[in-house]
Amino acid sequence: MTLLNQKTIKIYLNDLRNYDFEKELIQDKVTEYFPQYFQSSLQFIKAPNVSVTRGKLVGLELSCIDTIVLFFDGVALWLVGKDQEAMSVDLDEIARTLKIHQKGVDPLLRALGAKESQLRVFDFTAGTLRDSIHMIKLGHRVTAFERHPVIFGLLQNGLERSSFRQMIHLNFGEAKNFTFEDSLRPDIVYYDPMFDGHEEKSAKSRKEMELFHQLFLFLPLEAEYLVDAKKLEEKITLDFALSLAKKRVIVKRTPKAESLKPPTFQMTTKAVRFDVYQL
Ligand SMILES: C[S@@+](CC[C@H](N)C(=O)[O-])C[C@H]1O[C@@H](n2cnc3c(N)ncnc32)[C@H](O)[C@@H]1O
Repeated sequence: MTLLNQKTIKIYLNDLRNYDFEKELIQDKVTEYFPQYFQSSLQFIKAPNVSVTRGKLVGLELSCIDTIVLFFDGVALWLVGKDQEAMSVDLDEIARTLKIHQKGVDPLLRALGAKESQLRVFDFTAGTLRDSIHMIKLGHRVTAFERHPVIFGLLQNGLERSSFRQMIHLNFGEAKNFTFEDSLRPDIVYYDPMFDGHEEKSAKSRKEMELFHQLFLFLPLEAEYLVDAKKLEEKITLDFALSLAKKRVIVKRTPKAESLKPPTFQMTTKAVRFDVYQL
């Protein structure tokens, strides 16, 4: 999956005590979060007295050309967008705040199969890994895929800092570009493509998704760029998922979005709908 234009992305590094000595080490460390082909697009800039406070970057006014930048505070890597809004991937915090409903009522648990445990799940669309964590907490094993190089970098940093790092295997790219031996086929494929055209109706559109949206405008992938191309590639991905999974494919949509294909059944709540394809 190629980027439409490979612009430079600025990474601001906070004030390090012995900056000249540490800069190279830190730069190498941060560079390694990203896929190799993207590493030459990173531009590191020293940023003294910059920090993230209450979810906003402070100490640095971003110009309107830099609608998206990254900030590394020495530990966490932050994606920063409009109005200085900043996010990093904190998987332990996600795990703490996840609302997992009681057994049998949780819609994702139903979509996966309420009596199942230890399923092998491929999450085709890692994003923030929130849904992956949800599935791990329901007792399943997850391998995730992320195709956007910047999101992949944020996730590698998030995993490194979390207690989930041994539990999620994260791959860069699209599952359909990998080959899987029969013994490695998953029981479940989980697919949550972004922006199905109804997000504005869901009042709780999370801050992360808003920042991802800005990132996709700044550094778009070919498949995300044109609505028709996106629809076609979602259908191709679903067909691939149906040929790969052994038990079920689950597609997450907003409640009013069209299904990619008629599902076997649906689980709908106020905010989401799971289209489940039973194999
Ligand atoms: C809606 S978000 C997924 C949100 C995720 N379920 C969560 O819990 O945060 C979609 C993410 O999947 C990525 N993506 C979309 N289609 C993909 C594909 N075919 N292969 C790999 N990654 C994909 C996007 O770059 C984006 O990060």
